[in-house]
Amino acid sequence: MNVALLGTGLLGQAVAERLHATGHHLWAYNRTPEKTLALQQQGIHIASTAGEAMAAADVVVLMLADATAIRTVLFDPSTSQALRGRTIIQMGTIGPSESGSIGENIERLGGQYLEAPVLGSIAEAKAGTLLIMVGATPEQFVTWSPLLHALSSDVRLIGPVGKAAVMKLALNQLIAAETAAFALSLGLVRRGGVEVDTFMAMLRKSALYAPTFEKKLPRLAERNYARPNFSTRHLLKDVELTLAAAETAQLSPGGLPGVRSLLLDTIAMGLGDVDYSALYERVDPATSG
Ligand SMILES: NC(=O)c1ccc[n+]([C@@H]2O[C@H](COP(=O)([O-])OP(=O)(O)OC[C@H]3O[C@@H](n4cnc5c(N)ncnc54)[C@H](OP(=O)(O)O)[C@@H]3O)[C@@H](O)[C@H]2O)c1
Repeated sequence: MNVALLGTGLLGQAVAERLHATGHHLWAYNRTPEKTLALQQQGIHIASTAGEAMAAADVVVLMLADATAIRTVLFDPSTSQALRGRTIIQMGTIGPSESGSIGENIERLGGQYLEAPVLGSIAEAKAGTLLIMVGATPEQFVTWSPLLHALSSDVRLIGPVGKAAVMKLALNQLIAAETAAFALSLGLVRRGGVEVDTFMAMLRKSALYAPTFEKKLPRLAERNYARPNFSTRHLLKDVELTLAAAETAQLSPGGLPGVRSLLLDTIAMGLGDVDYSALYERVDPATSG
């Protein structure tokens, strides 16, 4: 299949590699061209504009940061003409109402739209083991599942556009909440003079354990947030989206505003573009204690 991929950031680059490796003809575009060099060396076509990438493709995959980035890239007058007759598959994390309005705009311009946000990160994208939630019509799901199966063996139709976006937020707020909770527990253990190994041994045996704790422990233990899979800045975006969705649904957000403050402070410490587990530096700063 001829596929245009718009956005070759952390996840977009991995998705591009996987689609290329599974035999699709890929045209990639990124606002910052330097980030496409590694893909070019692998034989992937690089387009100098989004419109050029779209013109070469049957389907357009979006791996852009947020709704603002999507609107900037797609609804530019030079690009929007290329929407006519094409299907756009939106795979980033955006809010359900944002997804709905972007979809309506695309349809007004003669294109088709579905959302397919993902759970998993760079390693899972490269291995084709992402979990993909699809918001689409049943017909779109049947048509585009084979392409999505290049990235995942677990591709699920959640409902029409907006439903997969809600489900993605419901899952991602757990990343924020669980990481903040684990950071505080680890800080308590370390400052309280308890062996981290002893704490982890008991935690692993309890119902409170989550695999993400194990995954993030080395970063927190070494205070090493370099080479991120997912940035603090994007986790804050997802927390903001969740808070907005909770308000719309008339839900009380519990402790999530506290996690938002932690993330805002972490970004103010200059840790916005590193791995989001850097929120530990706000909970348990290296300089004190
Ligand atoms: N990384 C993960 O593990 C992961 C997992 C699940 C979901 N997601 C979601 O997937 C999306 C992409 O994540 P990522 O980690 O790959 O982010 P990223 O590394 O920050 O990449 C963001 C992409 O959006 C582009 N972009 C941002 N603002 C733009 C604008 N105004 N105009 C044009 N292009 C713009 C960037 O272009 P430049 O390179 O020019 O800045 C880059 O291609 C996000 O919605 C994220 O929440 C990520």
